[in-house]
Amino acid sequence: MLRVENLTVNYGAINALKGITINVPEKSIITLIGANGAGKTTTLRAISSVVKSAGGSRIYYEDKDITNLPPHKIVEMGLCQVPEGRLIFANLTVKENLDMGAYLRKDKQNLKNDLDFIFNIFPRLKERIKQPGGTLSGGEQQMLAISRALMSKPKLLLLDEPSLGIAPILVRTIFEKIVEINKSLGTTILLVEQNAHFALSVANFGYVLETGNIILEGPAKELEANPEVRKAYLGEA
Ligand SMILES: Nc1ncnc2c1ncn2[C@@H]1O[C@H](COP(=O)(O)OP(=O)(O)OP(=O)(O)O)[C@@H](O)[C@H]1O
Ligand SMILES: [Mg+2]
Repeated sequence: MLRVENLTVNYGAINALKGITINVPEKSIITLIGANGAGKTTTLRAISSVVKSAGGSRIYYEDKDITNLPPHKIVEMGLCQVPEGRLIFANLTVKENLDMGAYLRKDKQNLKNDLDFIFNIFPRLKERIKQPGGTLSGGEQQMLAISRALMSKPKLLLLDEPSLGIAPILVRTIFEKIVEINKSLGTTILLVEQNAHFALSVANFGYVLETGNIILEGPAKELEANPEVRKAYLGEA
């Protein structure tokens, strides 16, 4: 569904991505794990075309070359990024935030069903429907950010560190919900995470990014068992 080939991104003199290749098959959950500054967010931003890919990079989505297309065109094709740090509208209520997600939708008659689906997986949001987004807890804001993205009916969801700053008990819930979204809506998911343990437990396949290069890739179960990954990313001695 998505194929990233030889993706290179430079921020001035900083070479943040050095020619990475990633494949995201339809209906899969693929994870990209790596430490601070590895280039995870940059990868998602390049796919969304919020940062420019350098010459030689190629990004294909459903067999169309989308490299450096205007960002709104990419959203219209069904790719939706949930940015790091959530970035919900603090002064708008939960419902208003969700409505913003559906803004581009043409099939407004189906919105009720989609809201029902969201409130079913995140009942907490239903209880707080009239509360301003900015007054939600960190975990609730993350639920809202994911739900807002779902309201745009994405075919491919790009999730940037959904576990960041969330209490351990809620992290498990968030990952369970990600699987539920993938299974029941068939949404393809590219999941960027520092929490390698959870990311590998839900993904089909994973890539390990280190300072702009993919240093390892494989089925998630194999990466979980890989001694190098266990030492560097799963906190084992
Ligand atoms: N706008 C920018 N200008 C200059 N350098 C940048 C910019 N954005 C990112 N970088 C640099 O590019 C590198 C990769 O950053 P990126 O945000 O992709 O990392 P990350 O893997 O998402 O890290 P984290 O886990 O901390 O979110 C870092 O060294 C960062 O300092
Ligand atoms: Mg990041």
